[in-house]
Amino acid sequence: MSRLQPEPWRVKVVEPIRLIGREEREARLEGAGYNVFGIASEDIYIDLLTDSGTSAMSDSQWAGLMRGDESYAGGRNYAHFERTVQEIFGLPFVIPTHQGRVAENLLFSTVLKPGDIVPNNTHFDTTRANIEVNGGTALDLVVAEGKRAKGRHPFKGNIDLERLDQCLTENRGRVPLVMLTLTNNSGGGQPVSLGNIRGAHDVCARHGVPLLIDACRFAENAWFIREREPGQANRPVREIVREIFDLSEGCTMSAKKDGLANIGGFLALRDETWVEKLKNMLILIEGFPTYGGLAGRDLEAVALGLREVLDENYLAFRIGQVTAFGEALVSAGVPVVEPIGGHAVYIDGRAFAPHLPPEQYPAEALTIALYREGAVRAVEIGGVMFGRPDPQRPGREILPSLDLVRLAVPRRVYTNTHLEYVAEVVREIHRNPDKLRGVRIVHQAPVLRHFTARFELV
Ligand code: F0G
Repeated sequence: MSRLQPEPWRVKVVEPIRLIGREEREARLEGAGYNVFGIASEDIYIDLLTDSGTSAMSDSQWAGLMRGDESYAGGRNYAHFERTVQEIFGLPFVIPTHQGRVAENLLFSTVLKPGDIVPNNTHFDTTRANIEVNGGTALDLVVAEGKRAKGRHPFKGNIDLERLDQCLTENRGRVPLVMLTLTNNSGGGQPVSLGNIRGAHDVCARHGVPLLIDACRFAENAWFIREREPGQANRPVREIVREIFDLSEGCTMSAKKDGLANIGGFLALRDETWVEKLKNMLILIEGFPTYGGLAGRDLEAVALGLREVLDENYLAFRIGQVTAFGEALVSAGVPVVEPIGGHAVYIDGRAFAPHLPPEQYPAEALTIALYREGAVRAVEIGGVMFGRPDPQRPGREILPSLDLVRLAVPRRVYTNTHLEYVAEVVREIHRNPDKLRGVRIVHQAPVLRHFTARFELV
């Protein structure tokens, strides 16, 4: 068989993109305070800011939009959506939301009391923020391998089971739930093994604490389990998915990722205890429980997307495309998180630009250079996103262990040629990394500052 792995689809609709000139790019950067979140998408050539909400829908999903039932209550698309979630995840109580962070908001505003602790392998920024605004502490307990860019451990997203056990022992009554993020987005898109999920389930069961899954990239994680975990090869992905969720008490989901939709999400639970309270809150902040802030047609697109994402030809291409993109950087000596993650390639900012002190946010500096050199948009997942004031040293920050640039690959959107172009831009910058200039933050918001911060080049 050919080693080439062509896309398992053909193109039916195209959306033009264009590369603007270098001077224009420089002007756009200045206008945006060097924050790529502030640049208009028409001025981006290849947009790898996120894999969230950026998927291309299938012809069947587009057809599904025409079957939208926009009734306020009891719409047929909700019935399809609910049935699909129940079938795939085996979780009976399904609460639709318009995106993942609303599921987090509902959950944490309902179950958390001030002083509580929520362990996770690594909390995504919105999860962390939703815990913190409700007075809780978001605790990251990823295994030591997961904090290093190097080292090809197959499941760097695993949670440290010993520390989890210790945390639950020491904080009895203060941990309302434990989370596991599949795949571990903030730690390089690395998967969690089935063995580790089972281990977390056992620890939680022993302490009587529910285990919930952040399911954003559940299908990609299940694919990695099939590919990498002894005894899992050739099992149907759908079966692996079911086993994962059978070990949980529920999940939060952003359907903008492995739902293959442009909007949508849900909270699904096994037990009824929290459901009534959650639904009342849902009515207050999102909408009636059979639409949850979504149009009926969007629920249909998500229901169909959740099935399509389990297609093994799709998953083989998807993971293969991201891996090939990452390996094209590895072979040129670019320091990236290895092994290559599921939805994105993560460049190690500190290793890429060792001349910059961590306080000058090297990953942010590289993000700026990617736009300047190639109109490529990436996102910093490092000191800007996760740095916080150091109470011991006024004016200084506690920085995260990894300072990364994430090149997230939207699903079914870019061809391998687009990604080869991006790899070439990265390699070009990497030829003279000492030209990168560090950055200083000149304006920031009190929470989730990375979205709106403004920078100055040092
Ligand atoms: N959990 C994880 C692991 C995520 O990656 C995201 C979103 C969310 C929760 C929140 O979902 O955006 O639908 O509210 N991640 C996007 C990203 C934004 O770019 O990684 P949402």
